[in-house]
Amino acid sequence: MTSSLNKITILRPDDWHLHLRDGITLSTVLPYTAEHFRRAIVMPNLTPPVTTTEQAIGYRERILAALPKGSDFEPLMTCYMTDDTDPDEVEKGFREDVFTAVKLYPAQATTNSEFGVSAWDNIRNVLARMEKIGMPLLIHGEEADPEIDIFDREAVFIDRVLKNWIRDYPELKIVLEHITTKDGADFVRHAGKNIGATVTPHHLVINRNDILAGGIRPHLYCLPIAKREIHRIALREAVTSGDRSFFLGTDSAPHPISAKETDCGCAGIFNVANAIEVYAGVFDEMDALDHFEAFTSRNGPDFYGLESNSGTMTLERKTQRIMGDIEIPGENDSIRPFLSGEELGWSITKD
Ligand code: DOR
Ligand code: ZN
Repeated sequence: MTSSLNKITILRPDDWHLHLRDGITLSTVLPYTAEHFRRAIVMPNLTPPVTTTEQAIGYRERILAALPKGSDFEPLMTCYMTDDTDPDEVEKGFREDVFTAVKLYPAQATTNSEFGVSAWDNIRNVLARMEKIGMPLLIHGEEADPEIDIFDREAVFIDRVLKNWIRDYPELKIVLEHITTKDGADFVRHAGKNIGATVTPHHLVINRNDILAGGIRPHLYCLPIAKREIHRIALREAVTSGDRSFFLGTDSAPHPISAKETDCGCAGIFNVANAIEVYAGVFDEMDALDHFEAFTSRNGPDFYGLESNSGTMTLERKTQRIMGDIEIPGENDSIRPFLSGEELGWSITKD
């Protein structure tokens, strides 16, 4: 890594948490990821979800077919955990280099989670197998119990579930995805080398007032929902601290505007077109550009036991305005990029 006050060159980054969807949405959004990221962990919450090795091979082929010509982007596939997940199927996909990890959605926690896990006892044998074979578990860490306040769901999940799992499966590699709280950051910091966390660009720059104060902003709504300012500050401190447990995961989750601006709007923020520059702005504001490359390009591969990428990307302190809506061809609908129309202080000048 080289860096000066106005320019930084980092190893090519990866995105360790991404929603690419399928069909026309896939081909609309994929170029924005492939332009800057070498690899991405692709979420399996399609309808129907990706639960078998065969389905993941098919999905991977559709992603590769939708790539712009000449792209060397590599999708890393995940298996959607259900109450009926078979440990043998999971192991088969892992050994055949199809599945990189298993994704756990608590049932009813978020978009397309209705096939998720409804009782923890149902997956004990899968977790034990994953621990044995060294396969990472990626967790949407929210308690889905309707009695729990939506702003407390991450902290309650950690307390009720995750604490027990790290005791019961001490060797299981776990990524607590898209953490949104001080509780999440503190937990990961102290949980040892088998526990990592991804942090999104949006949770580093918005708090719940941005969503709710002075009018409701559906394009800032995602799950886990952004929390109070103290949590945003804790996340910024965690990712810029140099702690190697934290790594880049955009959780970019495109939805058509019609599905966001409606009575019961979908959760998800499409941020991937400018994610790197938003992260760079945060590290710059925290005076921590020295730790930027580890977060974007080293900690994730290290956690997954993969090599970091070769090749570099250069960012410069140069303002840019974030693009407007992206049309979905043939759908008479569009996707609104995160912070659309706003100015950013950093731009990618070479990759
Ligand atoms: O905001 C979110 N959107 N959170 C999730 O967990 C799922 C995602 C989606 O698939 O839209
Ligand atoms: Zn996600």
